Amino acid sequence: MTWLRQFGLWIVGLLLLALALARGAASADSPDQLARGAEVFTIRCQPCHGDVGQGLALWRLTWAPEDQNCASRKCHGLGHPPDGFYMPNDAPAIIGKGALTHFATARELYGYISRRMPFDKPGELSASDYWAVAAYLLRENGKLPAGIQLDDSTAGAVAIGAPAAAPEALPAGASVALLILAGFVGSVCAWAAVLKWRKWRKH
Ligand code: HEC
Repeated sequence: MTWLRQFGLWIVGLLLLALALARGAASADSPDQLARGAEVFTIRCQPCHGDVGQGLALWRLTWAPEDQNCASRKCHGLGHPPDGFYMPNDAPAIIGKGALTHFATARELYGYISRRMPFDKPGELSASDYWAVAAYLLRENGKLPAGIQLDDSTAGAVAIGAPAAAPEALPAGASVALLILAGFVGSVCAWAAVLKWRKWRKH
C-alpha cells in the first residue's frame, strides 16, 4: 500500500499549504490602524452615531424616555447654554446596510470627516486618527480590502458607493486553498472508484 502512504503525505502537505495561505490572507490586515480606529470611534463618534454606528435615532430608542430629547433647548437645541452645543435631531447611521454609500471612495469619506466631524469640533483630530477611523468604518461596513493601510496614497482606489464586486465570503487565499483541496479530494475519490471498479472487473 505504498500509494496510500504517498497520498497521505500529499494530503498533509496540501493541508499545510491551505493553512499557510489562509493565515497569510488574515494576518495581512493592518491591525494597528484598525485598533486605533476602533478607539477613535468609541471616544469621538459613538456618542452621536450610536454604539454600533446605527445612528442616533435608533440608538436613542434604547435610552430612558426622559433622556431622549437631545434637541431640547437645554442641551443641543438652538439657544443652548454655553456647556451644550447645537445638534440636529439625528446623526445618520455610519455602519450598517447602505451606510456611507454616497461617498464614492475612501478618499471622499476622509475628506468629509476630516472637515466636518466630530460635528461639535470639526477638524479636531490628527490626520492619522481620521485615516484610522475611516479604515475602521470601512472595515465594519465590509468595504475595506484585506491588508490595506488606508492613507492618502491608497484611499482613492478604495470604492465605497460604486457598485462593489460580488462580496467575497472568504479571504482570497483561503478560497484558492479550498478550491485546491476540493479538486484534490474529488480526484482521489474518482481514482479510488476506478481502482475498485478494475478490481471488481477482474473477479
Ligand atoms: C456631536 C455629534 C457628532 C459627533 C461626535 C460625530 N458626528 Fe458625525 N455626524 C453628526 C451629524 C449631526 C451628522 C449629519 C450632518 C449633516 O447632515 O450635515 C453627521 C454626519 C456624519 C457622516 C456623514 C454620514 C452620511 O451618510 O451622510 C459621517 C461619515 C460621520 N458623521 C462620521 C463621523 C465620525 C467618523 C465621527 C468621529 C470622528 C463623527 N462623525 C462624530 C454628528 C456627530
